[in-house]
Amino acid sequence: MNNLIRKSVQAMSGYVPGEQPKEDGIVKLNTNENPYLPSADVQDILSMVDISALSRYPDPVCLELRKVIAELHGCAVENVFVGNGSDEVLALCIRAFVEREGSVGYFEPSYSLYPILTEIEDVEKKPVELDTGFGWQMPEDYAASLFFLTNPNAPTSLNYFKKKVESFANGFGGVVLIDEAYADFSDENCMDLALENDHVLVARTLSKSYSLAGIRLGYCVGNSELIGALHKIKDSYNVNYLTQEIARVAILDQDTMKANVQAIVETRKLVTEKLTDLGFSVCNSQTNFLWVKPLGLRVPALFEQLRKKNILVRHFGNDERTKDYLRITIGTAPEMFKFLDAVEGVLNGDE
Ligand SMILES: Cc1ncc(COP(=O)(O)O)c(C=O)c1O
Repeated sequence: MNNLIRKSVQAMSGYVPGEQPKEDGIVKLNTNENPYLPSADVQDILSMVDISALSRYPDPVCLELRKVIAELHGCAVENVFVGNGSDEVLALCIRAFVEREGSVGYFEPSYSLYPILTEIEDVEKKPVELDTGFGWQMPEDYAASLFFLTNPNAPTSLNYFKKKVESFANGFGGVVLIDEAYADFSDENCMDLALENDHVLVARTLSKSYSLAGIRLGYCVGNSELIGALHKIKDSYNVNYLTQEIARVAILDQDTMKANVQAIVETRKLVTEKLTDLGFSVCNSQTNFLWVKPLGLRVPALFEQLRKKNILVRHFGNDERTKDYLRITIGTAPEMFKFLDAVEGVLNGDE
């Protein structure tokens, strides 16, 4: 059978998404989703959908949606590409910008999908290890065709200063894709760099700050020639009609997105303080999740004990650099109080 499957596909293990439990009563803090409702305009647009529209193909170039995104970022429609989640945008960037003999760079740890996408395309991976404080120092003479720079980074939750990202981009010969999946939760973002530099793209998603992981909509902004290359190679109808409509009204309602982000940022501060008081080392999060090291506790045991108490968080246990940490998505305040109670219970040795 194996001779029917490409060798590179046989050799790879595939991406393992966070668990999506089916049972009720789980406090789900494992996949960085947003616990709040999306814009009420989403409900309205769904109730207004004329189902006869579903028998037609959607707009292949998503013009109305791209106009709204262009308006939001102060650029032209030609500077915007939209995809089926930012995951699709990332995959297309490798296909569009990396030759067979080319290479893809990214930091480790960062978003664990990058190496998988690179393996799928069967091109060289050029990861750069972050230091123990999760900062970076580029190796001398480092080069790659495309670099995925996650900012703020996941799973570490830390933001790299724009100045540092800018100087990295200035010295880099390939395409730099700044993956800003979490930028709405951060004090700073690098969208300007995409508008000012021909080789820089910035990717965003509606999965986190807009509470719309289920519709699968991501986009990137940048030079019109790079954006044009992505349009050439995408599936003809890569973003479905309902997603285009929902995303358009959700982006127009910036107030709801900002209010939800504000609630998450406030809860993030509170949980950071409580966990610090409980003796955890907590990174200074600029995202909708925390990256924490529970000092004096075995992380796999803590993960399992929380799971028994119906609290689901994320542990990347297969990697030396991440195995001593837990990633905890910020849920609603009541969810986070349940989480904190459960942690205290574990610390006190309750069963
Ligand atoms: C850094 C980063 N980029 C991209 C994504 C994927 O976003 P989307 O849901 O738009 O595919 C995630 C999802 O967790 C992420 O953490």
